[in-house]
Amino acid sequence: EQQQRIRNFCILAHVDHGKSTLADRLLQTTKAVREDVLARQAQFLDDMDLERERGITIKLRSARMNYTDPRTGEAFILNLIDTPGHVDFGYEVSRSLAAVEGALLVVDASQGIQAQTLANVDLALKNGLEIIPVLNKIDLPGAQPEKVLQQMVDVIGIDPTLAVFASAKQGVGIDEILNRIVDFVPPPGGAETAPLQALVFDSYYDVYRGVIALIRVVNGKVRKGDRIKMMSNNKEYVVDAVGLFTPAQVEISGALGTGEVGFLSANVKSVGDAAVGDTMTTVNNSASCALPGYRKNKPVVFASMFPCDSSGDGFANLQVALSKFTLSDSSLTFEPIFSSALGNGFRCGFNGLLHMDIVQERLDREFGMDVLLSAPNVVYRVRTRSGDEHMISNPSDIDPAGIAEIQEPMAKVDIIAPQAYQGALEDLVRNRRSTMIDLQFLDGNRIRMLYRMPLSEIISDFHSNVLARTKGYGSMDFCMDGYEASELVRVDIALQSSIIDGFAFIEHVDFAASRGRALAQRLKDIIPRHMFKVAIQAKIGAKVIASESIAPFRKDVTAKCYGGDITRKQKLLKKQAAGKKRMKLVGTVSLPQEAFRKIIASD
Ligand code: GTP
Repeated sequence: EQQQRIRNFCILAHVDHGKSTLADRLLQTTKAVREDVLARQAQFLDDMDLERERGITIKLRSARMNYTDPRTGEAFILNLIDTPGHVDFGYEVSRSLAAVEGALLVVDASQGIQAQTLANVDLALKNGLEIIPVLNKIDLPGAQPEKVLQQMVDVIGIDPTLAVFASAKQGVGIDEILNRIVDFVPPPGGAETAPLQALVFDSYYDVYRGVIALIRVVNGKVRKGDRIKMMSNNKEYVVDAVGLFTPAQVEISGALGTGEVGFLSANVKSVGDAAVGDTMTTVNNSASCALPGYRKNKPVVFASMFPCDSSGDGFANLQVALSKFTLSDSSLTFEPIFSSALGNGFRCGFNGLLHMDIVQERLDREFGMDVLLSAPNVVYRVRTRSGDEHMISNPSDIDPAGIAEIQEPMAKVDIIAPQAYQGALEDLVRNRRSTMIDLQFLDGNRIRMLYRMPLSEIISDFHSNVLARTKGYGSMDFCMDGYEASELVRVDIALQSSIIDGFAFIEHVDFAASRGRALAQRLKDIIPRHMFKVAIQAKIGAKVIASESIAPFRKDVTAKCYGGDITRKQKLLKKQAAGKKRMKLVGTVSLPQEAFRKIIASD
């Protein structure tokens, strides 16, 4: 029976350990991709420009391979599901793991286990996956596959007999990996005769077809013409195509059967309506319950977005751009806000800082929208004196007078680094209100440090600091860990005595004054000189905690153009105008985007 010969798996790896290279090799070996295509386009699975530039995988895709086991001559269907590797995309990783039975755990044999490796293993184990360890890059002179394997046995408890030593780059160990998949990844369960239950593990927007949902059929089957509904919202659609990824998208005339992985399109207009984690079933003979694990997307980081073009058009155009944007990225949320200092804009919710950067860049590239983003912040839970509880995502909305308690989101952070950097890392976390949970020695010279700390301390510049302090040898990962009450206050920043709402931030009382001072100092360095004196203040309530000022130009810039050489005068004015680009006029003061960025840097 066909179902018995299907193997669904994914590849888990820390950034740069060789996931894409291995995927390419598997596709090439099973002839799923023609050699010439592969030669022209290395690294097939990451298909967005931006991803390639940043060297990260954001959106998961899938590939179906036909594989004949050379030992028995038996034919198998191998479905590879690509997973996003970054911490920002944790929920998407976990959904794609729910769609498979096995995982190749790729570890660079010259680097060993990294923080993401452990986070990935946790997820794989939670999903009950069979894990096949792949020690990659054995061609490198510094590779120590035996030692790294021992580490994996000690730290993760994997079964060493399943491990494969490989070089994705040179094509070593690829056949062995394919055989391991056939032998150890279980075939999918489920019943073809049961009502349809299909898990949406990814969806994306296609300009020609609308939303394409990537599905794993868990029970039943689905074909073109079926009337289906999404179980989270009961919206109904008629399937207009189903098909496979070869890895190109190929439509099929038959049904996608139980255990199969493929795509489905049904004239869904927005990816939010075919959300990752949702279950599809047929309208007739519906499944009685949805597959477990559907979670409505909840942004964890918020920031305000303002068009740099502050005419009425700028705002209207941005609204149109954001609406279009969310057709293809439902994890971005936005609602209009008005800031007395910055004008009309939107309060946006993101999956994390990386997501925020990507949104800003895509708005610029794909929609030509130059936007300014305020400093990001986490979502606070506030209990009022009257006993109500609500979530607040904009620091300016926190009214200290009516508040009994502010709670902040906490996170568990996992850091792996050479022991030589232990002191530098301890120094880093000390200033971040952290508590140590555990310290482990991984092998002769590497340590694993586990901490609990407020999420707000991580979304600032924590990751880049971990890298800087370990000269790039450290890695980190984190997961959310509930809410906790804390003594938090709002720090306001005022320019020329009026408060700039986009600059307000929430801080622990013990750090508020020093961070307020540091920020005022940084703004002093960043804000250009004006024709008048610029006064910067940091305040907690009515109390001024820091005060800086920027002296005006001593003379008019054009004053030194004695004699009135007009071309020189024009040159100077032009230079001034160019310097104003990407500035936002706040009251009478021009602020560069950098000023907003600097708010989150805490060191
Ligand atoms: P992300 O997509 O950023 O998560 O990275 P990845 O895990 O997909 O890694 P990728 O396949 O892009 O490989 C990272 C780098 O390692 C590339 O420069 C590859 O050429 C190189 N690489 C991959 N496999 C091997 C290998 O077996 N040996 C050697 N020497 N280099 C390899």
